[in-house]
Amino acid sequence: MDRSLLDFLTEYAKRQPVSFHMPGHKGSKLYKDLGYGEVLALLMDCDITEIPGADNLFQTEDVILSVMEKYRKLYESRKSYLLVNGSSVGLITAILSCSKRGEKVILARNSHKSIFNALTLGGLEPVYLYPDIMTGHGILGGIDPSEVSRLLDENPEASCVVLPSPNYYGICSDIEAIAKVCHERDKALIVDQAHGAHLKFIGEGYPKAAEDCGADIVINSTHKTLASWTQTAVMNVMSDRVDLAVVGNYLQILESSSPSYPLMLSLDVNAEILLDDKKKSRVITEWRNAVDEFYEGVREIPGVRVIEDPMLDRTKLNFDMGAYGLNGNQLETLLNERDIFTELVTGNIIMGMTGIGTTREDIGRLLEALSEIADSRELLMDGLPANDYSGILTMKLDRGRVPETSVSLPLDECEGRVAAASIIPYPPGIPLACPGEILTKEIIEYTKKLRSMGEKVIGVSPKGELLVGE
Ligand SMILES: Cc1ncc(COP(=O)(O)O)c(C=O)c1O
Repeated sequence: MDRSLLDFLTEYAKRQPVSFHMPGHKGSKLYKDLGYGEVLALLMDCDITEIPGADNLFQTEDVILSVMEKYRKLYESRKSYLLVNGSSVGLITAILSCSKRGEKVILARNSHKSIFNALTLGGLEPVYLYPDIMTGHGILGGIDPSEVSRLLDENPEASCVVLPSPNYYGICSDIEAIAKVCHERDKALIVDQAHGAHLKFIGEGYPKAAEDCGADIVINSTHKTLASWTQTAVMNVMSDRVDLAVVGNYLQILESSSPSYPLMLSLDVNAEILLDDKKKSRVITEWRNAVDEFYEGVREIPGVRVIEDPMLDRTKLNFDMGAYGLNGNQLETLLNERDIFTELVTGNIIMGMTGIGTTREDIGRLLEALSEIADSRELLMDGLPANDYSGILTMKLDRGRVPETSVSLPLDECEGRVAAASIIPYPPGIPLACPGEILTKEIIEYTKKLRSMGEKVIGVSPKGELLVGE
């Protein structure tokens, strides 16, 4: 607790570790290499407010509108909105804009917490789509279009359908088929493409962007994989099933009235890079080559298991070394010791997130580290299984009423009680239990296990207490 945030960040930045986590730019090198070094030097002087000529994010007419227009062109949308509160605010806005208070929403159970927060804000009722679990890997897969169709038939009064594609591991769903099922019933499809802002630009061999598959609203965290800064995102409205005036109104309700100009500036730089054929080709080619080199190189290291799948956005590197008896946390520690930081551990699988700033050198460092770890250990006859934890994220829990009054109780006393707040391991930010759900022994035990491993679990107090119905 002695060290300040300032000390931590400056020391970290000077060390220049290898990043396989958000954000996608991976540091200042990308901007400097592409000719935006000067803007970085002027950054503090660009931190302004709505002075004359600077436009207004909630009444765009001038310089901010021109950035929105760039994204409209890039994603071929009806209208593109710049977001400074991440995809989170876009998802809440999209859901509230498509629903009336009290309505049902059909949503993937492995949705991000912001989607559950939209339900709370709008007094909406969830109807869950459960994703497949990928056999052999134990991670959450895509959403089956026939399940969407079944739930829409059973709940014709539902307002809209919401699901992530790609999900946190990079697995995409068949958005074309799901959009068709939704539109046959005149329902809007909202795609949480927080992890796939790049799919429109990355080229062949990758799943198509939801914008090109018929989704009505698509929300992209440009900060996660592209070149804008943390908290920036772009929401694309693609169809006229959506009322733009309502969307604009929710955004001005939900976002800060002082949107950061440096953040919006980074959205402009990101758009410029993608609109400039030379710059775009330079960074996308380097990124694609780096990713290819990972999959080729990793085959040479015995005992490293990698997920490959036709529905996978391969920029997400999912690998495990259970064959050496290493679980995900142990492997993560060994990588951290070599100054390599990854995005997510689930069971034995580590997800390394590449981005537009990823270089072949970064991949080289990762492969070297994996080789070194493999060389220093023995391959076991019976290694650890790939993963057996994903099922818990999508357990079907009985529902009670969302409690109106609540009490904090130690985890051990919560079995059978109704959750009053969500329990959210972070990352990935998918709630284990939501308000109104009845807490099972498995959920309690899993929460305790995560905490004992030092994982962050939002909703549990430092003393290990949960908010449950009285
Ligand atoms: C699947 C998914 N959707 C939405 C979000 C929210 O994105 P943001 O951090 O840009 O608000 C996240 C964040 O990690 C996510 O993983």
